[in-house]
Amino acid sequence: MKKLYFLSVFAIMLASCSGKQSNETSAEFPNDPFRPQIHFSPKEAWMNDPNGMVYYDGEYHLFYQYYPDSTVWGPMHWGHAVSPDMVHWEHLPIALYPDDLGYIFSGSAIVDWDNTSGLQDGEHPPMIAIFTHHEPKGASEEGNITYQYQSIAYSNDKGRTWTKYEGNPVVPNPGIKDFRDPKVSWHEATQQWVMIFAAADRVRIYNSPNLIDWEYQSEFGADMGGHGGVWECPDLFELPVEGTDESKWVMLLSINPGGPNGGSATQYFVGDFDGKTFIPSQKDTLWIDYGRDNYAGVTWSDIPKEDGRRLFLGWMSNWDYAQVVPTKKWRSAMTIPRSLHLTKSAETGVYSLASRPVKELESIEEEDNGIIFLGPVDGLDAGFTESLIDYEDGNETISIPFRTEITIGLSDETTNNFKITFDNTETLEELVLRFEDGVLSADRSKSGLTNFANNFAKQETRVPIQELLAREELKLELFIDSSSIEVFLNDGAVVMTQIIFPTQGYTRAYISSDENPLRVSFVTTQLKSIW
Ligand code: FRU
Repeated sequence: MKKLYFLSVFAIMLASCSGKQSNETSAEFPNDPFRPQIHFSPKEAWMNDPNGMVYYDGEYHLFYQYYPDSTVWGPMHWGHAVSPDMVHWEHLPIALYPDDLGYIFSGSAIVDWDNTSGLQDGEHPPMIAIFTHHEPKGASEEGNITYQYQSIAYSNDKGRTWTKYEGNPVVPNPGIKDFRDPKVSWHEATQQWVMIFAAADRVRIYNSPNLIDWEYQSEFGADMGGHGGVWECPDLFELPVEGTDESKWVMLLSINPGGPNGGSATQYFVGDFDGKTFIPSQKDTLWIDYGRDNYAGVTWSDIPKEDGRRLFLGWMSNWDYAQVVPTKKWRSAMTIPRSLHLTKSAETGVYSLASRPVKELESIEEEDNGIIFLGPVDGLDAGFTESLIDYEDGNETISIPFRTEITIGLSDETTNNFKITFDNTETLEELVLRFEDGVLSADRSKSGLTNFANNFAKQETRVPIQELLAREELKLELFIDSSSIEVFLNDGAVVMTQIIFPTQGYTRAYISSDENPLRVSFVTTQLKSIW
């Protein structure tokens, strides 16, 4: 029988408003309380989906849906940034502007290593962007449904300048409304390019030898997965199954609305793919993230083989309220970068996709300012509050952004109910994560500004985690930034990403349990701003 310890309340005191103000921002973004410190956000104006994520010559490129003239959605451009590590970003000029064929909607980019397209000019292989042109006049004409089609553009200077291909579109619209978001990859086994994109309630798969001439192969999904809204932003890639010699194909598929907690969300399918047809191995609807705020996420192309990771980031918002969140100069950030991993349950044979924060994030850990408390803990009375400042060596306190890793020892004899609270004793704002009766719920009803949209905080975000509670331990990894929290359970087996708008930051973080004995240990680490 496992030894039981009694857990009461432990608090991590965060820097208060008077001290090192948690939400006072870096020199780059002064007086902007919600400006993310460890997440990519545009300097100003509106952003939505990540686009064209490709690695080339030491640079991770991030393009994104961008409207430079406003903080709400409008004529779409591709904004652009590059990074040596997916963590620190340099903003670059807009890469693609709307043109006669339409706005530049979501899509992908690849390196055409063997110049299959013939678009190389100079010594180095070209970078090709594949995107949807959305023709706004056509879109507003009654009865017209053929205003979206796939086009390409190329760059011969490491993505700095782009030329649209003169034969665009490369995939004309065959008469399907909602025909968008192409993701292109090289299929090694059949030596050809594969394009997958969303076509209303399903995806379509095409092949090409040269990125210009595309042939329709198959479709997938009309009778699979969630269908509460339109399908958008697919991705398709192969992943090894951890701990085996097996590999499977994973399809990511964003859907809006129809997410497990309302509005936008991203589901995934696991199956087999022969270069032409995707055959799913399991029928359940599965979600990459149960939070309200991880949408339209896709993975980087051309990650070197020696690295081998499948690297992902998503748009950290939800179409339910993205255009009214209370940020003034800019709207939306991306999630932290995550690597994707496929696991297979020994008991059930079911495949699951795990998302884990990338190791590059360790580079922003403040070396001397971690609060380490290694349990197990016992003997405190119920209701007791202990400041974790007592566990520090120096005088510095932890402030946003920070990361906390918590391990909870689970027991058969209890219901394993506990909660984690972030609060501010002056503003009385609080964000509560409840682990109760096999469900993790996030309650942001009092988390800060919430009334900008009536569907932002009206309901809790809930995730069933019964399966994770049947083990010896529950591992939590939390990343807390000025306006977001990302929760990773058991090495990313379950993920919950939520945005929040605390008016003066949170000044305390604590874990508590009213009723149950639990063992707990944790490490909290101060993170440095990426800007
Ligand atoms: C997803 C999406 C895409 C589209 C883009 C337009 O959020 O609706 O389907 O290409 O945004 O900005």
